[in-house]
Amino acid sequence: MTEPLVLCSVEAGVAVLTINRPAALNALNANVLLELEACVRGLAADNALRCVIVTGAGSKSFVAGADIVEMSALTPRTARHFAALGHRVLSELEALPVPVIAAVNGFALGGGCELTLACDLVYASENARFGQPEVNLGLIPGFGGTQRLARRVGAMRALELVASARTLKADEAKAVGLCLDVFPADVLMLKVREIAAGIASKGPVAVRSAKAVLRRGLDGPVGLGNALETEAFANLFDSADAREGMTAFVEKRPAHFRNA
Ligand code: CAA
Repeated sequence: MTEPLVLCSVEAGVAVLTINRPAALNALNANVLLELEACVRGLAADNALRCVIVTGAGSKSFVAGADIVEMSALTPRTARHFAALGHRVLSELEALPVPVIAAVNGFALGGGCELTLACDLVYASENARFGQPEVNLGLIPGFGGTQRLARRVGAMRALELVASARTLKADEAKAVGLCLDVFPADVLMLKVREIAAGIASKGPVAVRSAKAVLRRGLDGPVGLGNALETEAFANLFDSADAREGMTAFVEKRPAHFRNA
């Protein structure tokens, strides 16, 4: 039996998606993207889901980009399909209703960096390397790197990174806002699991609402975002979890959320 290209496990509401192609530094070919999409769709339907972690198999690489061997055979027509597939899968990952965390355990280059950009929170190991090196191949980013990168780090830094193909060490990636924090490689997953467990312990209806409002607000003017927030804030007063959270505070006891 062949190994899955993407491993998916869920424990206590926290899913771990592992891109599992270590011999090619977890490069994203069409089959990896399709397996990732199937996993993401399964998670999207899981109402008990609280948080998702995305990482790469092995100790060397998160994802070293789209698969260059596969790409070398593409024509403009098939390249359009390939880019559309990458966009679709990363957009579905980004749209998961719970926070998605990238645990960047090595190279996050090209499509790998773009995968981190589709995640809500990014943490890296000390050996992580970020970059958009596509111009070295005579290409540009094709899975959202020109768009999400500019939104995450600003247009000037994004063009600098894309046009120079410069690779950033973990500390510099943190300084420019590509990751939130850097941990020694041997504790990265432990730390990220702790962060995910912390999120999973909070009011689940509220956490989903926070992500939805924040993400939808980013797509439009701030006035619309504030209106969305007002509506979502009010709606939470209909949730049992908000009643429980506020009552628990008043009664000076821990809250017991029921995801309702
Ligand atoms: N696609 C296909 N195979 C890849 C790959 C990729 N993106 N990255 C690494 N591999 C393969 C290598 O070909 C090699 O395979 P073999 O053992 O069969 O030769 C194996 O993974 C190990 O890689 P290296 O021997 O090169 O490892 P290294 O430690 O010497 O170098 C590296 C590591 C610097 C990451 C180097 O592999 C590299 O530069 N990889 C390509 C990075 C890149 O350009 N990514 C962007 C791709 S384009 C893209 O992503 C477009 C888009 O936005 C959609």
